Amino acid sequence: MSPIYLDHAATSFPKAPGVAEAITGYLTQVGASVNRGVYASAQQAELVCLSLREKLCQLFHHPDPACCILTPGATWGLNLVIRGLLGPGDHCLVSSMEHNAVMRPLQALAQTGVTFDRIPCDSEGRLRLETVPGLIRPNTRLVVLAHGSNVSGTVQDARAVGEICRANGIFFLLDGAQTAGHLPIDFVGWDLSALAVPGHKGLLGPQGIGALLLTRELAAALTPIVTGGTGSASHTEFQPDYLPDKFEPGTPNLPGIYGLEAAVSWILETGVDTLQSQEETLSRRFLAGLADISGVTLAGPAGLEGRVGVFSLDLPGKDSGEVSYRLEQEFGMLTRCGLHCAPSAHKTLGTFPRGTVRFSLGQATTEEEVDAALAAIRQISK
Ligand code: ALA
Repeated sequence: MSPIYLDHAATSFPKAPGVAEAITGYLTQVGASVNRGVYASAQQAELVCLSLREKLCQLFHHPDPACCILTPGATWGLNLVIRGLLGPGDHCLVSSMEHNAVMRPLQALAQTGVTFDRIPCDSEGRLRLETVPGLIRPNTRLVVLAHGSNVSGTVQDARAVGEICRANGIFFLLDGAQTAGHLPIDFVGWDLSALAVPGHKGLLGPQGIGALLLTRELAAALTPIVTGGTGSASHTEFQPDYLPDKFEPGTPNLPGIYGLEAAVSWILETGVDTLQSQEETLSRRFLAGLADISGVTLAGPAGLEGRVGVFSLDLPGKDSGEVSYRLEQEFGMLTRCGLHCAPSAHKTLGTFPRGTVRFSLGQATTEEEVDAALAAIRQISK
């Protein structure tokens, strides 16, 4: 029996068609680095980097590919902004649903004189928008928001937060870890200052590659947290201040870039709207089936509205690790258990410190797999 993979919130599997071939093609037929050679294979690799930047800008509605920084992942992009912007005396607002990719850098900065507040969310993890204006201080420089929760799938109204940030002259960083490739994201229309995305989740690319899209205004305000050779401005020992070089020191992850370029091409051809509607169909089925199973608690939105296909369950009286283990041993089903690197979100949802068993759907998930998951939950919850 082949496993039923329901851990797409951790990393998607399988990857988009063409990803493995693109990586193999790079490793076996290209092999060159970028920005450091004038020979043809180096130029070819450079064109693939540019194509990836252009396609990510097309996907997220950003006008300028130079502002698309290729990073090792969303955590890296979030750190580039949080650590590159905030200094002693600065204040930051986050939601109470953030991942540790945001909270750990912020807690580290809190030791150096940065302050932050959590915008409260309701018991479904939804931002209480009416509280935001009262939390803004004269020294608030940045709002960071998880667009979609990796614990409950709750999706926040990023457009509304963007409006508040614009009106108050505050930079707005959106964490697209659970929504990129799942939902449309409109960088310009939502007044984002930055968008951090991983390549290996909803974008269906490999691990170790992601992107940070920036406005020129925020890019100018950031101090790079890592500096080094860029293959450009090699006469100087100082980091170039132009984009994307300012934030891309060192040899890039070219196998990852080739793989992600193939993945994003496939997503653009398929259409995010199509992917979103497929996921909604599966989510509807999962939620309807779950409503028929007694004794199981769903953390987060009970309905389809404002969510992605990430479902955290608590089976009272049962340890989430044991449930997840049984799901694999007895049903061949791969899920995540415990606390999902987001203690603040679990506290908001009332699932701390017990944690949950998380089922997360992806592009490859089928109706049969959803039905199998429901049958397994029914069986284990008895
Ligand atoms: N943040 C990822 C998850 O939720 C790794 O599993």
